[in-house]
Amino acid sequence: MPIERFLVVDDDESITRQLTKVLESMGYEVVAYTDAAKAAEEKNFDIVLTDFMMPQLNGVELLGILKGANPAAVRLLLTAAGDFKVATEAVNQGEVFRLLGKPWTISELTSAVRQAVEHYHLVQENERLGRELGAKNAELVEVNHNLEHLVVERTNGLLDGMISALDFRDTETQWHSRRVSLNARRIAEEAGIRGRELDVIEQGALLHDIGKIGVRDSILLKPGPLTPEEWVEMKLHPEIGFRMLSKMPYLHDASLIVLQHQERWDGHGYPKGLLGEEIVVGARIFVIADTMDAITSDRPYRKGRSLAVAKEEIRRCTGSQFDPALVEAFERIPDADLDAIREKVRELEREEEKRWGGQVLPMPSRRPL
Ligand SMILES: [Fe+2]
Repeated sequence: MPIERFLVVDDDESITRQLTKVLESMGYEVVAYTDAAKAAEEKNFDIVLTDFMMPQLNGVELLGILKGANPAAVRLLLTAAGDFKVATEAVNQGEVFRLLGKPWTISELTSAVRQAVEHYHLVQENERLGRELGAKNAELVEVNHNLEHLVVERTNGLLDGMISALDFRDTETQWHSRRVSLNARRIAEEAGIRGRELDVIEQGALLHDIGKIGVRDSILLKPGPLTPEEWVEMKLHPEIGFRMLSKMPYLHDASLIVLQHQERWDGHGYPKGLLGEEIVVGARIFVIADTMDAITSDRPYRKGRSLAVAKEEIRRCTGSQFDPALVEAFERIPDADLDAIREKVRELEREEEKRWGGQVLPMPSRRPL
C-alpha cells in the first residue's frame, strides 16, 4: 500500500519541523513549506495540514487554491484561539475536514491525523467503488443491448420465415407485404408515432395476410371469382392469422393489426365491423399503405398505375375506408420517400433471386385478384 504523503505549511519553521517529525514517526511522507505561496504550487500530496495566519496567504485561501489542483486531498487547518471564528466558517463551507487548535498536544495531533488518513482512504475507496459500479453498469447496458439486438434479429428472422411460408402458397405475397410494412411504418412516423409502436406497425403490416396459410388451396388459388360460400371462408383469414400469432405473446400488438386489417373506418369492414377509432391505429394505417401498393403494383391482368392515381383514389375514399387524419399524414410524405421504399424492396427481391440462383420452384397457378 502506498505511503500517505502530507503537505505541511506554517510560516514558523520550528512548527513545520515539529509537525514533520511527528508525522514521519507515524510512518507518513512529508513535504513541508514555510512559504505559503510556494506551497500553493504543490500538487503531489494526499493530506494537507496548514497554519491559518501566514503572511502571504492565509490558510483558508491556501486550501482553496490547493483544492483546485488536488480536490481529493483531505484538508486540516491549524488555528490559534483568536482565528477560531474565521476558521470555523471555513469548516462550515466544507473547505476543511478538521480544525486543530494551537498549541496542540501530541495525542490531539495524532488523533486528528489518523482521522484524516482514514477519511482519505474512505473517500478513495468510495470513488473506486463508484468507478467499478459505473464500469459494471456500462457492461450490463452493453449485454442488455446485445440481447435486445439478438431478440430483434431472431424475431425478424422468424417473421421472414413465416412470410416466405405464405409465399410458397400464395405467390408474390412476400414483396407486397414487405412494401406495405415499410410504407405503413413511414405513414406512422409521419402521423407522429414513435418508438416500439413503429416496430409493431411494421410487423403487423408484414404479417397481415399470414392467416391465408389456413385457407384451402381450392379457394386461395381459385382462378375464377369466389362464390359467396367461398368468400365466407376467405374472410376468415384475419382471425386465422390472429390465432396463429396468439401463440407468440410478444407479437400480441401486431396480431391485433392482423385481426383488424380488413376493417374500414365507416364500419363496413370485417370480421367485426369495427367503427372509426375502435380499429387499432396500426390497422387504420395499414389499409392506406395496402391500397396504395395494390394500385401501384403490376397485376397479372394490368400494369401498376401511378402514385398520383393511388393518392387520388385514397383521397376519394377518405372517411369511408380511411381515417381522414391518417390520410392527411400520408399525403404529407414526399413521393421520393415512397419511391425509395419501392426501390429498397426491389433490391431485396433481386438479392433473394441471386441467392437461389434463379431456381424456379413449381408454383400452383393462382387466382387473379
Ligand atoms: Fe387480407
